[in-house]
Formats: sequence, structure tokens, C-alpha cells
Amino acid sequence: MEQDSLILPFERTLCSLDLPSFSAGYQSVSVDLGCGKGRFLLARALLHPQELILGVDRLIHRLAKIDARARKAGIQNIRLVHADAGLVVGCLLPNRSVDIFFVFFPDPWPKRRHYKRRLFSPPILDAFHRTLKQGGIIHIATDNADYHKAILRLFSNDSRFAPTAPYEPPEEEKTDFELIFLAKGERIYRSSFASLPGAGPLHSISRPAAARPISIA
Ligand SMILES: C[S@@+](CC[C@H](N)C(=O)[O-])C[C@H]1O[C@@H](n2cnc3c(N)ncnc32)[C@H](O)[C@@H]1O
Repeated sequence: MEQDSLILPFERTLCSLDLPSFSAGYQSVSVDLGCGKGRFLLARALLHPQELILGVDRLIHRLAKIDARARKAGIQNIRLVHADAGLVVGCLLPNRSVDIFFVFFPDPWPKRRHYKRRLFSPPILDAFHRTLKQGGIIHIATDNADYHKAILRLFSNDSRFAPTAPYEPPEEEKTDFELIFLAKGERIYRSSFASLPGAGPLHSISRPAAARPISIA
């Protein structure tokens, strides 16, 4: 008889993020998933000093640069997490701890065979719902019309979320990628969803496919 894999599923190999230890005293907590070079994160932190903002990226050199720029500017209300975005939402963040997620320009993975690599999939909606406070919001922007449609379809099929007014960033909060797309004259698609009271997980995240890191770029 074939033996089960001896590799532990990722959700059993991580402990959670001790968010309360560094969010105490702030009015709200937001998370910038795939923060990149941090143009949005740093501008937002300056504009909203009462908001603790977690920047998440898998590229450490990008986080190192944001860290240096933030400290030079005296910004204290950010923390940087060097980790996979899917793991952060799926495992590390405590329940009902986040007011706002920002997911700006995740990789659209346009080929059908790569759809499974997209961040926005049914299992991640469980994770967003678990980690968002009631009424908390996810703001999304993409340059890819197909991915935008897929995101709208995904959320409209999930009664735990309701569409809400898309986030129009002020000029200084436009991300590095947004500036590139705008310079090329490309259209930006925005969508936002609020978390409603609702049932717990609707999807199993312990299936093997979900154990792969979810890539957003
Ligand atoms: C297309 S860029 C967008 C960056 C930024 N949000 C912007 O709009 O300028 C995507 C960023 O997400 C990061 N990224 C991609 N996949 C990731 C993952 N699975 N976990 C964490 N970060 C990821 C990349 O390193 C990159 O910095």
C-alpha cells in the first residue's frame, strides 16, 4: 500500500504572527500583500499615522530598501514580513485581526494551466474571511481584464463578501506598478469587497495543491 507523503502540510509547520505585540496603540491594522518597492506603503504610512501597516513580500532586498527608507523618514507605523502572501493570510495572521488588505497588481498568470498559481482562488477567500474584522475590506487593483473578471466572479459567488466602493488612491499612493501601467496608457481595474458575518471555511486548504506557495507576481 502506498504510504502518505512524509512532508508536513505547510499549515502545520508555522506559528502565528504576534500581531498584538506591535499593533497595540494603533487604531487599525492594514496589510499590503506583495508590497514591492513600497511606494504605496510608505506614502500610506505617512498619510495615516494611526494605522499599523504590514508590508508583505517574498523578495528580501525590496523589504530591505523599504526598511531603510522608512527609518530615514522616521516612519514607525509599518512592519515588514518576509514571507509568502498566501502563508501570511492562510496561517500567520490571527483571526479577525485586519481592517484592510491591499492587493495591488498581483500576477494575473494569464495561461489557463497557471491559474492555480493565482492568489485569488476559493481557498484564499476563506483565509481573507478568517483574518478580516467584520466589515473589514479587501482593495484590489489589476491591469488584467481577465483576472479582474475572475476576481469579480469569485467574490460574487461567496455570500461572506459584498462589493463596496473601489479604492481610488491619491496620487502619492499610486504604486510603482500602477505608474508603469499608466505611463503605457493601460487601463486599471479596481474592485473592493467587505467581509460580512458568515460561516467559517467553505473550502479545505489541506489539499496538496494549496500547499504550494501561492505566487502573486
Ligand atoms: C507585480 S509586483 C507589484 C508590487 C506593488 N504592489 C506595486 O503595485 O507596485 C508584485 C510583488 O509581489 C511580490 N510577490 C509575488 N508573489 C509573492 C508571494 N507569493 N508572496 C509574497 N510576495 C509576492 C513580488 O516580489 C513583487 O514585489
